[in-house]
Amino acid sequence: MEQNQNLNSSNPSVALIVGVTGMAGFSLAQALNSHHSHTWKIHGVARRPLPTWFPPSLLHNFINFDALNSTDTLAKLSPISHEVTHVFWLAFQLYDTEELNVAKNSAMLRNVLDVLTKASPSHLRHVTLQTGTKHYMGPIFDPSLAGKLVHHKPPFVEDSSRLPYPNFYYALEDLVASYSPALTFSVHRSSIIVGASSRSVYNALLSLAVYAAICKHQKLPFHYPGNEMAHFT
Ligand SMILES: *[C@@H]1O[C@H](CO)[C@@H](O)[C@H](O)[C@H]1NC(C)=O
Repeated sequence: MEQNQNLNSSNPSVALIVGVTGMAGFSLAQALNSHHSHTWKIHGVARRPLPTWFPPSLLHNFINFDALNSTDTLAKLSPISHEVTHVFWLAFQLYDTEELNVAKNSAMLRNVLDVLTKASPSHLRHVTLQTGTKHYMGPIFDPSLAGKLVHHKPPFVEDSSRLPYPNFYYALEDLVASYSPALTFSVHRSSIIVGASSRSVYNALLSLAVYAAICKHQKLPFHYPGNEMAHFT
């Protein structure tokens, strides 16, 4: 889902990658660094300190704060809030119910966007959200909805109607849309992705790859652990 990406080469692009130590954030920092036709200045944010495996050279600046705390968010982002042009939202905090995921993750994104849009001057132009296929499947990890979800059948299409359940992906989309037209936004609903980070909450494909490597090493047959409902679209 895309609204005019607005990459203007005459102005420097300054990225704020929120959730930079997750597998998508780490890969994005690498990708923006190797973007030869366009130079990015990259600020990376995470709730915890930079892990030892993360090359600090990928970032102009690493900023460490909990976006749930609006005071901390304001204090840590203020020094760079005037220069950020693009936010890449790859962060999430996971709670037991989807209602809590909605409340907490919306608060985090709102705290960050409020600081950047209220900077004077503000150069923020575009927000990129990474969500995923739970957009089409509903909050499959919420125990209160176990066995009750009725969802879209794959293949999933971008303009499928929303499902009648709370979903923090919907809440984040609505939140970024509320800043339109001052900001453009894009939403990336990736399916299962592969990458490597010790800070990722879920990493099904890497787990599967490790299992396959163990099977090979022990000369045991590899049995795919999913069923016919597992779709790697
Ligand atoms: C929020 O951040 C401020 C500033 O860093 C800190 O003083 C305060 O203790 C934090 N609040 C919570 C609830 O962690």
